[in-house]
Amino acid sequence: MSKENLLSLLEAGAGEYVSGEEISGKLNVSRTAVWKQVRKLEADGYLIEAVPRLGYKLVGKPSRLSIQELLPKLKTKQFGHQLRLLDVIPSTQDELRRLAEQGAAEGTLVIAEQQTSGRGRMGRHWVSPAGKGVWMSLLLRPPVPLPLTPQLTLLAAVALSRAISRIVPVEIGIKWPNDLLVGGKKISGILLESAAEDERLRYVVVGMGISVNLDAEDYPEELLIKAISLKMATGTIINRSELIVSILEQFEQLYELYLEQGFAPIRSLWEAHSVTLNKQTLLHTPQGPIEGIPRNLDEMGGLRVELADGSFRTIYSAEISENRN
Ligand code: BTN
Repeated sequence: MSKENLLSLLEAGAGEYVSGEEISGKLNVSRTAVWKQVRKLEADGYLIEAVPRLGYKLVGKPSRLSIQELLPKLKTKQFGHQLRLLDVIPSTQDELRRLAEQGAAEGTLVIAEQQTSGRGRMGRHWVSPAGKGVWMSLLLRPPVPLPLTPQLTLLAAVALSRAISRIVPVEIGIKWPNDLLVGGKKISGILLESAAEDERLRYVVVGMGISVNLDAEDYPEELLIKAISLKMATGTIINRSELIVSILEQFEQLYELYLEQGFAPIRSLWEAHSVTLNKQTLLHTPQGPIEGIPRNLDEMGGLRVELADGSFRTIYSAEISENRN
């Protein structure tokens, strides 16, 4: 028996109790097996009332995002006004790239309830179960030279970190370049994919993944040492629509600031939120490992690392594997 079978029976009960006996009879399983599947549905966000002798009643379903709920809340000028909300797709990155190629406007947003091939940096898989996270991609068409793209990566991290802390009472640290951590564990990742032509940036697809209401069971076990959801960190279910609206507002504000004043204000904000700076760090760069102490960002968005001999190296691409005080 799967939890889907059980759900169909409870839904067919139309708000009435369905007895455990009836369920185990129809699905040909033990009462204990029924109970286990009930717990699974509850972990997925279904509310099920269990009353001895009466059975089980479905009283609430997991929240779903809706355009009708999102759009009236949106106070941005442009970001998110062109919005595509999809149920299950491989990756919001691919869907938005397709729209970008068809000429979609800056600020166009693709959100998915679930991704079947969500991807992260370095070709990693991104866990994106249904209805529990914010899996979305935002289109930018920044009038900046291609080599400045890393600045947008950092901008995105600051925007997300400010947006999340406005909705959820958690302290967020940014691990270079753009992982968001709560208590040292990752709650969000950002993936920038750009399209360029003759050294000119045509557009940037900013993929944002926020693990909002995931439970421990949603993660592969090996990930639990380094990943956490906002629900797991705070013990409360977070309203995803409010979070999305907050992200779009923060993002648009910072993006406007960036286009008006350049990278300097973003750089200060990033440095203030960072948990990477001033710690002995091992960085795996494409050119090999480097050990040193990241001190600040340079004006392009690179990480300035102080080496043992007191000299500095600026890093644009690396994976940080150790970061200690
Ligand atoms: C990372 O930390 O490695 C980046 C993760 C980015 C995940 C998001 S979820 C929405 C968008 N679609 C994807 O396939 N990936 C990004």
